[in-house]
Amino acid sequence: MKALILVGGFGTRLRPLTLSKPKPLVEFANRPMIQHQVEALTAAGVTDIVLAVNYRPEIMEGALKEYSKQYNVNITFSVEQEPLGTAGPLKLAENVLGKDDSPFFVLNADVICNYPFKEMAAFHKAHGDEGTIIVTKVEEPSKYGVVVHRENHPSRIDRFVEKPVEFVGNRINAGIYIFNTSVLNRIELRPTSIEQETFPAICKDGQLHSMDLEGFWMDVGQPKDFLSGTCLYLSSLQKRHAKELTPVSEPFVYGGNVLIHPTAKVGQNCRIGPNVTIGPGCVVGDGVRLQRCVLLKDSKVKDHAWVKSTIVGWGSTVGRWARLENTTVLGEDVTIGDEIYVNGGSVLPHKSIKANVEVPSIIM
Ligand code: GDD
Ligand code: MG
Repeated sequence: MKALILVGGFGTRLRPLTLSKPKPLVEFANRPMIQHQVEALTAAGVTDIVLAVNYRPEIMEGALKEYSKQYNVNITFSVEQEPLGTAGPLKLAENVLGKDDSPFFVLNADVICNYPFKEMAAFHKAHGDEGTIIVTKVEEPSKYGVVVHRENHPSRIDRFVEKPVEFVGNRINAGIYIFNTSVLNRIELRPTSIEQETFPAICKDGQLHSMDLEGFWMDVGQPKDFLSGTCLYLSSLQKRHAKELTPVSEPFVYGGNVLIHPTAKVGQNCRIGPNVTIGPGCVVGDGVRLQRCVLLKDSKVKDHAWVKSTIVGWGSTVGRWARLENTTVLGEDVTIGDEIYVNGGSVLPHKSIKANVEVPSIIM
């Protein structure tokens, strides 16, 4: 089977992290986003993966070569000269996606869940129509694509409404699809949106179905959702593979859902958790309090710092007695001075912060 991942552009909403790395390589729960997807696709029997990108593929090539070996899968880049939207890239990759008659998967690069690829393939085959999209229920559907079903039909979609202004329903597009190759005939090679153009056309012919997702789901393309997604992922790990988490018997683990890389160091008398991930090479000092936060590779939190709802970028340092909260995001190689308070700061790479940030703001 084949798959295409819509990797897209600059990941502006995940700045300042994406100033250092493309979004798919930002580590989610200590592994690059894209690794979660490649692993799940190959586990379901996918042999060819196309990464649809429109900028600087060379930054990703090294990592992807490694996954290609590790998961025994062909990974190719399909590079757009101009951004082709969410449907154009499928046409551009027609030579791979259409190389045989088997259906292919498409995923948005920023969605995290327990990807149900095997179940999808079986469901798709059973109804026999052109496309299946995964849907999930959310309370605030306006920032997503919403599906409305045909009357008296549990799965056939009647209408697809992208970013609805008025409430039409709360089952939203989770950004994970499987299509028959015939869908490629519906798409032209130009900038075009799968949500605005392709889905409405398939719906009109009664050929698009939805499958409900089991368990958690999150689009982690912005910092607030990245943190929420981390909490959901860790809770799910706790239920499915609790062994991968740091044991609650560790004296510093508080409230569970803590994932600490084996090469990270934690000092004395810390209280860590719930919902914390600590990457490789990180150093946490003594008496540190961490909750609902992400420490990326090689970052440091010094003694007695208090860090909540924060992402600490690669190689950054948080000073002693510092206090960080309210979706603060430190880019790569940032230094927060001792005793500094940061409230919702978004700090660009290589900055050194010596004065309090009292209100949410971007520090450049
Ligand atoms: N290759 C390529 N080229 N990829 C693109 C382009 C492009 O021109 N434009 C966007 N993408 C990629 C993005 O990188 C992302 O992985 C995916 O397409 C979706 O784009 P987003 O910008 O993240 O869209 P969204 O989050 O506002 O909405 C989409 O995702 C929601 C679920 O998270 C839509 O598909 C919604 O219907 C859906 O509910
Ligand atoms: Mg998105």
